[in-house]
Amino acid sequence: MRHKVTLIPGEGIGPEVAAAVRAILEAAGVQIDWEEVEARSDKASATGQFVTEGAVESVRRNRVALKGPMGTAIAGGAPSINVALRKTLDLYANVRPVKNLPGVKSRFENVDVVLIRENTEDLYSGLEHEVVPGVVESLKIITEKASTQIAHFAFKYAKREGRKKIHAIHKANIMKLSDGLFLKSIRNVAPQYSDIEYKELIVDNACMQMVLNPQQFDMLLLPNLYGDVMSDLAAGLVGGLGVVGSANVGNEAAMFEAVHGTAPDIAGKGLANPTALLLSSIMMLDHLGERSAARRIESALEKVHREGKHVTQDVGGTAGTAEFTQAVIGSLRPS
Ligand code: NAI
Repeated sequence: MRHKVTLIPGEGIGPEVAAAVRAILEAAGVQIDWEEVEARSDKASATGQFVTEGAVESVRRNRVALKGPMGTAIAGGAPSINVALRKTLDLYANVRPVKNLPGVKSRFENVDVVLIRENTEDLYSGLEHEVVPGVVESLKIITEKASTQIAHFAFKYAKREGRKKIHAIHKANIMKLSDGLFLKSIRNVAPQYSDIEYKELIVDNACMQMVLNPQQFDMLLLPNLYGDVMSDLAAGLVGGLGVVGSANVGNEAAMFEAVHGTAPDIAGKGLANPTALLLSSIMMLDHLGERSAARRIESALEKVHREGKHVTQDVGGTAGTAEFTQAVIGSLRPS
């Protein structure tokens, strides 16, 4: 089956890793018509627009997108294009599977946990103001609607992917109303999925448990801020942001993206590691129903990392982007 997918290569190393992923998917025989669109942070700051209309329209039309990294100004400047895209397209669920990749050095083995993060509200609503000079207020928005929606998403994901247990992460002992509503909403949903074990954990304890014994977790369900922090923490357990994929999913569209940044220090030098975007593209293939191609690419990627001969410098190898890409293509089993 042919698919039409929006490609937002992004900035810095984005175009390099996007080209590598395209080549691997094509070699695997997946039939995709890519609609390449631009969404750049330099345009955002120049025009005051967060995203080009073209990018949003294209994702709305095709319902599936693959996206490279984009720069974001810190403490001032234009708002994040990444956050704007997620909001505009109402991609309310962030999905981050975290699993050891054979051959990639990490502090833990046998980690296999999926983090589901509510993506649209909490302290990311951007509702901040200066009350008086020297005092600012930032509003944490939690709604029953969004919390219930993300709960259903997580439990359905668990059923579909054969997962057994979900921990909801919160700080409702202190934020009794906001995190309390998040928890209550999930508690209303959990009994509808009685085959999935449901547990709760306070976020500080959850962080400690994750770095002590991450293998005890199957799935975590988190509000936006804790989800942002813990999903990077989780990636760190298996080797960092370069070896995990990510998806932002809504009812109308899904956008699969690499979670590392634009890597300005190596951009344009042919050194970037496409693994993260490739893992995101494997999630995209599963979403598109291309499960067999997804498994073939996954095995080829694991083989290249396990052998370690053609991996990039960030994971201890000597290969450039092109050599790594060719190694993955050469390791694809016939379909
Ligand atoms: P970064 O992830 O771009 O780089 C951190 C370090 O990791 C650098 O040494 C870089 O060379 C290395 N690295 C990252 N990805 C790599 C890859 N695929 N292959 C090999 N090495 C890789 O983080 P940094 O420097 O904090 O951010 C740079 C820019 O990226 C900033 O403007 C930031 O806002 C943006 N950013 C964008 C994200 C997104 O679009 N999702 C996520 C994180 C940062």
